[in-house]
Amino acid sequence: MEQIFSSDRAIVTGGSRGIGWAVAKELVDRGAQVLLVARNSERLRQRAEELNRRRPGHVQWFSCDMANQPMSAEAAVQHALKTIGQPTLLLNAAGGASIASVLDAPWSLWVGDFQVKFFGYLAMARAVVPCMLQQRKGVIVNIVGIAGKDPNPNLAIASAVNGALNGVMKVLADEVSQHGVRVVNVNPSATETDLLGSMAQSTAQKSGQPVEAVLKAMRMRSPLGRLPTAGDIAGVVLFLMSRQADFVTGTGIDVDAGIHRGMF
Ligand SMILES: NC(=O)c1ccc[n+]([C@@H]2O[C@H](COP(=O)([O-])OP(=O)(O)OC[C@H]3O[C@@H](n4cnc5c(N)ncnc54)[C@H](OP(=O)(O)O)[C@@H]3O)[C@@H](O)[C@H]2O)c1
Repeated sequence: MEQIFSSDRAIVTGGSRGIGWAVAKELVDRGAQVLLVARNSERLRQRAEELNRRRPGHVQWFSCDMANQPMSAEAAVQHALKTIGQPTLLLNAAGGASIASVLDAPWSLWVGDFQVKFFGYLAMARAVVPCMLQQRKGVIVNIVGIAGKDPNPNLAIASAVNGALNGVMKVLADEVSQHGVRVVNVNPSATETDLLGSMAQSTAQKSGQPVEAVLKAMRMRSPLGRLPTAGDIAGVVLFLMSRQADFVTGTGIDVDAGIHRGMF
């Protein structure tokens, strides 16, 4: 496999499962040094061991809760500096999406989901940017979500978090692109990960339908007849992190089989 990331050091938040894990594997296979970040240390340890068996010495891990901002982000970057060196790549993928409407969601859920995903992504970006500016090299990819463009009544908080991330990452790109740092959002539609299972379960509980029926309906809504896998999203992320995408910054790429109806 071409070692196109052999001079890169990547922080992957949410790197122990789902989309983050799929991206971490691809980066390691292509030569990058990677720091996996998530909460569950035992899973992180196992994941790092698995990748280090494939690529000895390429993977480190750091456990923290992204709800604790900005301390967690700063600590993760400090750990990267000690173990893999100055980061050149950041994937923000630590987070979730609660099934909730505007009025029913308790206030604590609104604040908690913003803390983890909106402030988590923003704090990580703010913490790595100085390292990237120093190197005049860096790519930040944020796994945002199509609900940021198509607000979804069942995903009220995620719609708001993702919309806010679209705004702030665009402005960050304005600030850093001329200094060699690119910022790109990726907007998956519902994707086959653990998170999809928990979202389907919450929807089933609320609607009284069986979980399988909820999942089947979601899959049938996709114009391609299936939902993307974490690997489908990772393929796009890897392209965006590569030199092939040197002119892609300050924008969002939908990976949704065309579910989003707008042309923008
Ligand atoms: N799957 C979808 O349908 C979908 C669609 C659009 C957008 N997205 C977005 O894509 C991102 C990744 O989702 P996914 O489907 O890959 O989810 P996932 O399979 O549930 O994986 C989430 C990852 O984030 C970590 N994480 C969760 N909360 C955290 C916290 N508070 N602090 C630190 N790490 C945390 C998890 O590890 P620990 O549990 O050990 O912390 C895990 O590694 C999320 O932002 C999600 O909103 C997902």
